Amino acid sequence: MYRAWLTGGKCGKRLIANHTATNGAINANDLNGRYFLWVLMALPGIGLLVGYSRGAMDAMNMLHPTGEFGVRFMVIAMCIGPLADIFGSRGWTQWLLRRRRWIGFAAFAYSVAHLIFYIIDMGTLADMLAELDAPGIWTGWLAMLLMAVPGVLSNDASMRWLKRGWKRAQQFAYPAALFTVLHWGLLEWHWGGALVHIAPVVLLNIIRIIKLKGLSPA
Ligand code: HEM
Repeated sequence: MYRAWLTGGKCGKRLIANHTATNGAINANDLNGRYFLWVLMALPGIGLLVGYSRGAMDAMNMLHPTGEFGVRFMVIAMCIGPLADIFGSRGWTQWLLRRRRWIGFAAFAYSVAHLIFYIIDMGTLADMLAELDAPGIWTGWLAMLLMAVPGVLSNDASMRWLKRGWKRAQQFAYPAALFTVLHWGLLEWHWGGALVHIAPVVLLNIIRIIKLKGLSPA
């Protein structure tokens, strides 16, 4: 089963080769691969699902952590572009750039989980529609729709199909982040949490703009 799952792609074959070459012991290449990162990013979600399945948390309790992990992965993914522009092409910026798509996808996956628990918590479509006009709610829906564009297109087939358009599709992350901040702030009428989370994206983009302007001829 483990083997069948890994043989899906080139990376999987390399993983098996590394794995068998070291007599089953996990080596550094395994830990640097995409599967390890996926497992790492899924861990909080698995912990939450265990809590939910054991009845320690109900659907309402799941909203806050799934929403927050969605925002955190979104912020990490959105910091990578500015970091690469500020620090240039280095080993660690390339490392992050290669993983940005997966981190963005994790943000989308946690947001989908957030939406699923919202639906479970609300119970009926009528109840969901009844609160759709609340500013804290429609901003969440809008954030979700905007996020779905890069989220759904975060795969090799879409990249090949859209070519240059793919990069433009990724730009939907910016309005998605804006509406996420509004969603969070308007729900709580307390802006601290949302603003602290989004601050690194704003700061790094300001530094990026200053740096790129400084480099361009007057
Ligand atoms: C599909 C549309 C969405 C709906 C209907 C929705 C609904 C909700 C609701 C009802 C809460 C309140 C939970 C509570 O009272 O504890 C909440 C909280 C939250 N949502 Fe959403 N949400 C949506 C999309 C999103 C998206 C796309 C994100 C960002 C990735 C997000 C991030 C958050 C965060 C961070 C919180 C925590 C606020 C807090 O309780 O401190 N939501 N959401």
